[in-house]
Amino acid sequence: MAEKHSSSSLGIISRKSMLCLFLFASALFMLSWFFLLRSTSSAGFIGLSLLPHPKLNPFIDNGNSASWNRKDVEPSIGNRAILVDNEGEEEKPQKKDDLGDVKCSGSDNNYKQVLKIFMYDLPSEFHFGLIDWKPQGGSVWPDLRAKVPEYPGGLNLQHSIEYWLTLDLLASEVPGIPRAGSAVRVRNSSEADVIFVPFFSSLCYNRYSKVNPHQKKSKDKLLQEKLVKFLTSQKEWKRSGGRDHVLLAHHPNSMLDARVKLWPAIFILADFGRYPPNIANVGKDVIAPYKHVIRSYVNDSSNFDSRPTLLYFQGAIYRKDGGFARQELFYLLKDEKEVHFQFGSVQKDGVGKASQGMHSSKFCLNIAGDTPSSNRLFDAIASHCVPVIISDDIELPYENVLDYSQFCIFVRTSDAVREKFLLNLIRSIKKDEWTRMWKRLKEVENFFEFQYPSREGDAVQMIWQAVARKVPAISVTFEPVIYGPHEVLLLEKVRNSMNSHCRF
Ligand SMILES: *[C@@H]1O[C@H](CO)[C@@H](O)[C@H](O)[C@H]1NC(C)=O
Ligand SMILES: *[C@@H]1O[C@H](CO)[C@@H](O)[C@H](O)[C@H]1NC(C)=O
Repeated sequence: MAEKHSSSSLGIISRKSMLCLFLFASALFMLSWFFLLRSTSSAGFIGLSLLPHPKLNPFIDNGNSASWNRKDVEPSIGNRAILVDNEGEEEKPQKKDDLGDVKCSGSDNNYKQVLKIFMYDLPSEFHFGLIDWKPQGGSVWPDLRAKVPEYPGGLNLQHSIEYWLTLDLLASEVPGIPRAGSAVRVRNSSEADVIFVPFFSSLCYNRYSKVNPHQKKSKDKLLQEKLVKFLTSQKEWKRSGGRDHVLLAHHPNSMLDARVKLWPAIFILADFGRYPPNIANVGKDVIAPYKHVIRSYVNDSSNFDSRPTLLYFQGAIYRKDGGFARQELFYLLKDEKEVHFQFGSVQKDGVGKASQGMHSSKFCLNIAGDTPSSNRLFDAIASHCVPVIISDDIELPYENVLDYSQFCIFVRTSDAVREKFLLNLIRSIKKDEWTRMWKRLKEVENFFEFQYPSREGDAVQMIWQAVARKVPAISVTFEPVIYGPHEVLLLEKVRNSMNSHCRF
């Protein structure tokens, strides 16, 4: 028909078809422009989508929607750290969300937001074998659908982070386990953000660091030697020099020998008290909370007036290192009526009593022991007893995203040991301010809760997110270096300066 037309009135038709062609070409051009924008640049996207998507980033988002607000983050340190940390991340989720509206609403939506972790299938003697679990059916791992092996209780539990993190990675491979997903196990190490080493080093230290009569070395030493040999021969280790490996050493004495050989890795620690700064430091490593041993205060409807004890302390007396303050404080406080000051660590049978004591106190003292950190801080948080921290060198978990000054009191040791100083300070904190801190404690306590399956915003998720914040720094490649003592220091300097933006 068109042909017929064209033959009869050529002039008009050709003008018409020219118009059609022009329109078609314009449409094509606009379409291609549109798709080009979609596929290449999210900067183009920001231009196109006038309304910024609320879900900029999972880390920021979690924080805002859960319980801490931007304005809750200390402006000088925390806020800046969040913004800088997420600079590289911002574009991808933006793209994901906008694309999600169009067509890719499928399964790979969370791509890039989730930390991808490769975990070595270490023999069970390094992990669940240490809690007397026996491998069955050729797997080095327990079948979580059948039975989850239990971690030994008592004081071992303080450092049980190794167990919770490993369980969470295993669970990420089992469909149907309802868990929060900041991290997922991947089987191809080339696709992983970090490499996880599932060695239960704290339990190993607690249980096997004694040399038995017929042994030359303790099992703890032997396993560390074996681990160093294994790791340094892996292609994953050689590829990065170990910098993308995540090692657990929460007990201050765990990995005592291996730490000086595996130092390029990211350590997850309780504090830096027993580490020289070139082996572990706040730039490279992650501080994780202790698991509290005190019972959580469920449905806490107490208030300032219903908690009779003003100040509570229970702990061991130490003379060495930073611990001298405990003794000084004891003499200053022992005759004060509203103060409970008792020596001796919380043993199994004492947990109930200590729980009751902390649940009925307004303030709980945390004094540096022979290391800067102790599980008392986390016991206090679980008890909603406002922590009074006297430990000049303490490093706190998730410090760049959580402002501790909103629910903790920090006192310099030199001030705390001055006559009357501490009690005057604490008595000056009145009901309103205390209540504000108590409420905040109830909001943040979940960040310190270890559980299986792991849930949104609990300690396991917070630790994975802290590890994720270290990833941008490890992916910067170095020339291969033969590590001598000089290079060790030099490399650390470089890494520290690289990492410093994460904190300041
Ligand atoms: C692992 O991932 C890399 C990079 O994506 C890919 O080139 C390689 O083929 C993968 N290996 C296996 C065994 O799938
Ligand atoms: C806490 O309160 C909830 C709701 O009122 C209740 O179901 C739960 O049993 C309480 N838990 C405890 C330990 O009292």
